[in-house]
Amino acid sequence: MRYFFIIYVLLAVLVVSIGGLRGKKFKDAPIRVFPDMDEQDRIDPQEASDFFNDGLGARQPVAATVPQGLKPAGLADEMTKSFTNDNSYHQTGMFNEDVFGTGLPVNELGLTEENLPAFLKRGLVMYNANCSGCHGISGNGKGVIASYGVPGVFNLVTSKLPDGGMYDVIVNGRGNMGAFGYQIDVKDRWAIIAYLRALQYSRTAPLDQVKGAYEAGSAK
Ligand code: HEC
Repeated sequence: MRYFFIIYVLLAVLVVSIGGLRGKKFKDAPIRVFPDMDEQDRIDPQEASDFFNDGLGARQPVAATVPQGLKPAGLADEMTKSFTNDNSYHQTGMFNEDVFGTGLPVNELGLTEENLPAFLKRGLVMYNANCSGCHGISGNGKGVIASYGVPGVFNLVTSKLPDGGMYDVIVNGRGNMGAFGYQIDVKDRWAIIAYLRALQYSRTAPLDQVKGAYEAGSAK
């Protein structure tokens, strides 16, 4: 009988601790030792604000700026297109939102034989400005930043990534490499990839194929 009571009491404690005494809802602000930025002044959508002269909480974009992903009325298509997003290969590097594809989205980029050299040159400029610090001017992964201690910088000449995979690394970063999606727009990302392919080709092509171009000065 004693055991029965002991087990009964234990069971009761168990049931109460699982099912009961969940604590009360309370609405006071919790005590925060380090408030970080949990609580901030803000204006909800559609809310009025007497901070601004016109009394409106919702603001227009500052003149001559391009909000990411938005398309303010009256702004030239060309300017906003470059940072908007959809799920196409052109915008993600992926087919069916699932597999990294390869090849340049020629139509979306508006590439023709005439503007291709300019496109590659743009890739060169963007690559040298943004990537060569780590990956090196020749893409061999031995840029000056790498030599100062960023570990594991990949050699892009021997990279086996498909174009879409490169696109994704540029946009989202990987490992010790930061994301560049917010500062390099869609067209420039593809230009960099096209330039990287040219770099790879120039490093691996047989001499007789590139010698002519080099001597003609176009490889400089
Ligand atoms: C801060 C140095 C740094 C900069 C700047 C940088 N990268 Fe990287 N990159 C890395 C590192 C480190 C890795 C290896 C990431 C990992 O650990 O997977 C990498 C990996 C890559 C890869 C993957 C290669 C493969 O075969 O998997 C690609 C492609 C690449 N970078 C392209 C670029 C491009 C294009 C730019 C310029 C827009 C750039 N990187 C700028 C450091 C950098």
